[in-house]
Amino acid sequence: MAILRALWPVLLVVFCLFNSNSVNANTTVSYDGRALLINGQRKMWPDLIAKSKAGGLDVIETYVFWNMHEPERRQYNFKGRNDLVRFLKTIQAAGLYAHLRIGPYACAEWNYGGFPVWLHSIQGIQMRTDNEPFKNEMTIFTTKIVEMMKAEKLFAWQGGPIILGQIENEYGNQEKHYGEKGKAYINWVAKMAEAQNINLPWVMCQQEDAPDPIINACNGFYCDSFEPNSMKKPKMWTENWSGWFLTFGGRVPHRPTEDVAFAVARFYQRGGTFQNYYMYHGGTNFGRTAGGPFISTSYDYDAPIDEYGYIRQPKWGHLKELHHAIKQSEAALVNGEMHSISFGHDLQATVYSVNSSGICAAFLSNTHPRKDATVQFNGKSYYLPAWSVSILPDCKHAVFNTAKISTQTSSMAMEKVGLESLLPAETETSSSDTKPSINWSWHKEPIGIRSGENFSSNGLLEQLYTAKDKSDFLWYTNSVHLDEDEPFLKNKSQVYLHVKTRGHALHVFINGQFAGTQWGSYNNTSFTMHIPITLKAGTNEIDLLSVTVGWQNYGPFFDTWEAGINGPVMLLGLKNGTKDLTFQKWNYQIGLNGEHQRLYSKTGANAVQWNSGTYPPNTTALIWYRTEFNAPKGNNAVALDLTTMSKGQAWVNGHHIGRYFPSFKAPTDGCSDTCDYRGTYSPTNCVTGCGKSSQEWYHVPRSWLHPTNNVLVLLEEIGGDPSGISFRTRYVDTICSHVSQDDPTAYYSVEESHGVTEPPHLNLQCSSGQHISAIKFASFGNPKGSCGTFYEGSCHATTSSDIIRKACVGYEECSIPVSEALFGKPCDDLVKSLAVEAICSH
Ligand code: GAL
Repeated sequence: MAILRALWPVLLVVFCLFNSNSVNANTTVSYDGRALLINGQRKMWPDLIAKSKAGGLDVIETYVFWNMHEPERRQYNFKGRNDLVRFLKTIQAAGLYAHLRIGPYACAEWNYGGFPVWLHSIQGIQMRTDNEPFKNEMTIFTTKIVEMMKAEKLFAWQGGPIILGQIENEYGNQEKHYGEKGKAYINWVAKMAEAQNINLPWVMCQQEDAPDPIINACNGFYCDSFEPNSMKKPKMWTENWSGWFLTFGGRVPHRPTEDVAFAVARFYQRGGTFQNYYMYHGGTNFGRTAGGPFISTSYDYDAPIDEYGYIRQPKWGHLKELHHAIKQSEAALVNGEMHSISFGHDLQATVYSVNSSGICAAFLSNTHPRKDATVQFNGKSYYLPAWSVSILPDCKHAVFNTAKISTQTSSMAMEKVGLESLLPAETETSSSDTKPSINWSWHKEPIGIRSGENFSSNGLLEQLYTAKDKSDFLWYTNSVHLDEDEPFLKNKSQVYLHVKTRGHALHVFINGQFAGTQWGSYNNTSFTMHIPITLKAGTNEIDLLSVTVGWQNYGPFFDTWEAGINGPVMLLGLKNGTKDLTFQKWNYQIGLNGEHQRLYSKTGANAVQWNSGTYPPNTTALIWYRTEFNAPKGNNAVALDLTTMSKGQAWVNGHHIGRYFPSFKAPTDGCSDTCDYRGTYSPTNCVTGCGKSSQEWYHVPRSWLHPTNNVLVLLEEIGGDPSGISFRTRYVDTICSHVSQDDPTAYYSVEESHGVTEPPHLNLQCSSGQHISAIKFASFGNPKGSCGTFYEGSCHATTSSDIIRKACVGYEECSIPVSEALFGKPCDDLVKSLAVEAICSH
């Protein structure tokens, strides 16, 4: 996340009712029950200036990850991707406001919820409760951040972009587990935050009992029925989950655009003032920053801006139109009296009007999950699809309906670029006409304890607090002496190894040979491994490599969750029956040799003896691979396709791309080809990727690549085939749009129309640097189907393709009025629509 990451910040972007044209010194921020007030004014935020603003957003919310900024106690890091000040100044330069969620507990599917791991070693500490050592550390960090913001003049009253702070995060969900101490803690948190004198409102999310004057805000898929704990506080939504997170082993979540828009419109219909998308851009959990356990490296989140920074269409565009419609209603929403009219069950009008001024805005909603309806409002009739809201900024014209998407749908290509086409110049190519060969180097990680950093202990150690997050890996090793007279040696009966672990993954090696692997899952990290093994007379080495896949980030007492082998560890089938190794002396090593030798770095090339050749081993467990490559041409975003690998970690030019885990596949069931946006959403709806690797592609930021001679290093734990690795480049491929003559037109301007209604337009746009190269389908009439499967209906204007071609081909974007004035009248008595499918090319 982000955060701080100037590179891929987790942009939690807020769209809210409030105001002011620019932030000046002396800007004051307060609130009342209807809005945030900036300089005492209740007004909506002015229009947007830059790319993030183009989506219609006003504020960027970001967490502050304590573990990134204070990785060691009192040793701070605000450099590079951790440069919080630079991040906030960038927000300011774009003309946006910021909501600083200091936490410092974040959750966020981030390692240990954002807590630094060293906290756990503090004598007597108990986290997120009334505990002096914890409160002391939390105060020190919070104060550090606040003072830094003040020194850099980043608070709004200093002329900076920050208009809100957040302290704690969803503690309300956990408070009861901490009993009286939980209550005492949250009261203390409030006092501690107020004592920071940020002179701005503080927010606590999901905290019903947030003490005054702290605003309690809502998080969830829907927050329209949420009410703050005082009439004096505005109704705020800090996390509208635009999608959901992906886990290794999980299906890929999608939240339908229509449903996100519905939830936002319902929120404003019912008095909402501030709404933030979590995520608007989720990005990538690089390195070992993913929590969970088992949170994937991708944190795409099905957000309006995808993991790679491309706008996701139609989500981005549809929400942009929604924001525009709500902003057109601004004057009525922040100043008007609200009243509701019921048209029967599930059908409602909510009107905001300012007496005798003519200022009036209305929301018409149909909350039935299946039945479409038509309602009469102010003498006109309005068609409301099931589970939708129409917005009428002047109480007359429906400029937007949440269920009618007229913005374009873009499908993204992930074009395969084989490594063999990216060979550095000096790479020798093999003989004449065969394809050029990739030069791989590989180094087998020694099995068991080989580094000086080892130690012994009686019994089995808990992994997290032993390894202290220095590495995902902890070796538990032991040896067993067996006599020649073991019956299994003679009668060939089977010996078994039985290991119980709290997780998260376990690789077993017997006498240096890989003997098996197993892993837990997001829902249950622990498991028991029971495998047949081969032993010999004499000394047998038993090397157990326990691997964590991100630390717990959520839940009551999440900080006390344990990992690693807890036992029993037993050998079954020996002459004395079972041999229990649980309480014996074990030898330990934190991390792998290759990690200690930094094989992933520049110097890694010379740190050990590497083998090299064209055919790297393709089934070996615990092995390092290395090769060089040139960057794929162009500026399109780049990903590594690691589907032929199993589990491990990847680096490019020493930058840690993250954990990869293609061998962890999503369940084969639970996906469907269609996705119905109607009805209450849950992350199990509309999933894709059944039976496939949960994450196949791993984002490699362009800024981490040089044009030539980049170094790729992989640590493979189980066995994979590096010769199958390729790169992928991402770009907009096919774009479609389908707009009807009677679609609400979001850009209809109440002020400027003077009663003249413009026809809706069909707008198409490729990515910058691309142009529309071909029209695959165009029909004005009653075309059927959807993007990719459009076909002509009974009514079709034969001029359609020509008109669209002339208007669009060769251009980056085009806009076509959906009207008979342009296309003629291919048939009578029918509301016509225009459907187009086009190709974008470079
Ligand atoms: C919330 C939490 C966020 C994130 C989200 C799920 O409960 O506040 O940080 O974890 O859930 O993505």
